[in-house]
Amino acid sequence: MSVPVELTRRTRPLKLAPAPSPTRRDRWKNKARLARFLALSKVKQHAVPSLHVRPIVAELFLTDNCNLTCVSCACWRTTTRGELTTAEWVDVVDQLAGLGFVKLNFTGGEALTRRDAARVISAAARRGIFDLHLNTNGVLLDEDRLNEVVAAGIRSFNLSLDGSSAAVHDAVRGRSGAFNLTVDAVSRIVARRERDNLDVQVNFTVLADNVDDLVSIAQLTQRLGVRLYLNLGTDTTFLFRHADVSGRIAVDEGRLRDGLAWLTTASLAAPGLLPPPSALSYIPSHFGFEKAPPTPCVESQLKLMVHSTGGVGGCWGHDPTFNVRDRSIASIIDSDHYREEHVRFFRKDCVRCGSNYALNERTRVAAQVGDVGRRAAWSLQQAVDRTSRRGTSDNWAER
Ligand SMILES: C[S@@+](CC[C@H](N)C(=O)[O-])C[C@H]1O[C@@H](n2cnc3c(N)ncnc32)[C@H](O)[C@@H]1O
Ligand code: SF4
Ligand code: SF4
Repeated sequence: MSVPVELTRRTRPLKLAPAPSPTRRDRWKNKARLARFLALSKVKQHAVPSLHVRPIVAELFLTDNCNLTCVSCACWRTTTRGELTTAEWVDVVDQLAGLGFVKLNFTGGEALTRRDAARVISAAARRGIFDLHLNTNGVLLDEDRLNEVVAAGIRSFNLSLDGSSAAVHDAVRGRSGAFNLTVDAVSRIVARRERDNLDVQVNFTVLADNVDDLVSIAQLTQRLGVRLYLNLGTDTTFLFRHADVSGRIAVDEGRLRDGLAWLTTASLAAPGLLPPPSALSYIPSHFGFEKAPPTPCVESQLKLMVHSTGGVGGCWGHDPTFNVRDRSIASIIDSDHYREEHVRFFRKDCVRCGSNYALNERTRVAAQVGDVGRRAAWSLQQAVDRTSRRGTSDNWAER
């Protein structure tokens, strides 16, 4: 086992020109591209299965190395060398801007272990991609680093919390002190959310180690005032394939269902910061306790993955066959191989990683109708309960 590349080494922030703000026209252009993507996905689903729908969001794995040692992840178990240089990443970003990509997600490994992360982000903002997102464990996101990435153009964050207490989170993340650093980073983003127009979400990865914590993580994120997203533990994709990970995703069915039942009621009572019932109801099927709904994978069409050493793949289950060091991204996306894989993944002939299941559910009409129905039934039940409580107390008063 190798030593993690970097722990919490802090260095002086980079001095970067502030990211340009998007115009109203830029925002409309992005909305139009997204609408076109969704419309084409529907055509592909219902009429032309072989239709080539080009991705519009890129997941950029700035590094596969990390400063934590999460029990659920394979990243830190080996050291990846020969990763793309700053200049190569800037070239990737230039190509993606030219291809009309509307959003870039910077991730890893831990993207912030790269000192040049903000330079690459800033290059994307200057090339006109303004929807820039960072996935981070939050450990390195002190005030200086937060200022740096916000100045570079990051406008939304996912921070990972795998437990509602230091005991649970730090045990999963393999590092004591991680919980406090991450909660502190979330709170500091929340404090400047309005001023800097930032969005922040907490990602909790459901594992055998933390399935008992579903209720308390929801209570914690409610207290912090942030959205909660449940990632579903998997050992099927490139970041997580490892025998030790497989043991961590065997969640207990009863405990999972108990937590989900509580979350579903809480989500009906206070929608907004909790996952919608349709997303929650997908989760037992991911862990093999129910049959999965026949949903095509929109995520596989939406995203292009650029790996830290330049490999390009079409989705989480799509191992890269081409490399940006050998050919242009446009030629990769339009290659026969990529297109064939794309068709296959859309119909879920894949490892069923569960990534972004919530997006797939959002695009499924039956799931959306189901959410509306559940909310209406819940409101009706509340009204009936209120009336019967009033009736009981009135009867009592008359006696
Ligand atoms: C690989 S990490 C990269 C970003 C950053 N290092 C972090 O931890 O947030 C992206 C997300 O994957 C989640 N994750 C870790 N192990 C996983 C697994 N086995 N299955 C699914 N998601 C997992 C993490 O909790 C995190 O939310
Ligand atoms: S989940 Fe994130 S923080 Fe944990 S080891 Fe993997 S890349 Fe690092
Ligand atoms: S569910 Fe399948 S098609 Fe969708 S992202 Fe995962 S591996 Fe790819």
